[in-house]
Amino acid sequence: MQYKRILLKLSGEALMGNLQYGIDPERLQEYAQDIKAITAKGIEVAIVIGGGNIFRGVAGASKGMDRVQGDHMGMLATVINGLALQGALEDEGIPTRLQSAIKLNEIAEPFIKRKAVRHLEKGRVVIFGGGTGNPYFTTDSAAVLRAIEINADVILKGTRVDGIYSSDPEKNTDAVKFDFITFDDVLQKGLKVMDTTAFTLSQENELPIIVFDMNTRGNLMKVVMGENIGTKVNL
Ligand code: GTP
Repeated sequence: MQYKRILLKLSGEALMGNLQYGIDPERLQEYAQDIKAITAKGIEVAIVIGGGNIFRGVAGASKGMDRVQGDHMGMLATVINGLALQGALEDEGIPTRLQSAIKLNEIAEPFIKRKAVRHLEKGRVVIFGGGTGNPYFTTDSAAVLRAIEINADVILKGTRVDGIYSSDPEKNTDAVKFDFITFDDVLQKGLKVMDTTAFTLSQENELPIIVFDMNTRGNLMKVVMGENIGTKVNL
């Protein structure tokens, strides 16, 4: 087994499945089952989830909405997704705790690093909702921040593409996929893995990122078992 403790970053959009917005229960169940499979191997799993299926902060801002208000709506969206994921995981029999970066005491525990780590040690999946609790930060930044705080071995960024390409594979047929790439190369080549704030935070803390296709069943297990799928960003 390659990793003892992972931080899984899921995009909100991925939860839509084939829907236009909201949460596809089938997709949610698939994710829960894939996560269950890796917890069964004794891997400690923390999750940060985006909120783009419910609300896109930046899109709202570009339509004249105040950025801070938009980001607050986005944070609440991540808590909604966190609750949905918690429900799906519990349906699979996996003990789960939801911790929120913003105070929502009736709904979720507050984020407390030491408590989060204890939950993980006890085999509970910990979902971090509310992003970083601050506007102007993405959920990718939240994922990196939480991963560093809980000493995760790696960030697994589950997306709908199967890795990092030399150019956009949906536009260029000659785009080449990288198996491994350094942080410096990503920056030099101007590739998009995460926003710059999140990416440099990961680099400065020497936290590797693996980008992989989470929508193919079983991929999550392959990644944690060290199979060479997706793209690994390392020092
Ligand atoms: P242990 O310390 O291992 O006993 O962890 P635990 O999470 O089982 O114990 P705790 O008594 O802290 O929590 C029991 C339940 O209450 C869990 O489902 C927690 O997620 C939940 N919980 C704890 N604190 C809060 C809170 O501030 N708000 C909300 N909504 N739930 C909380």
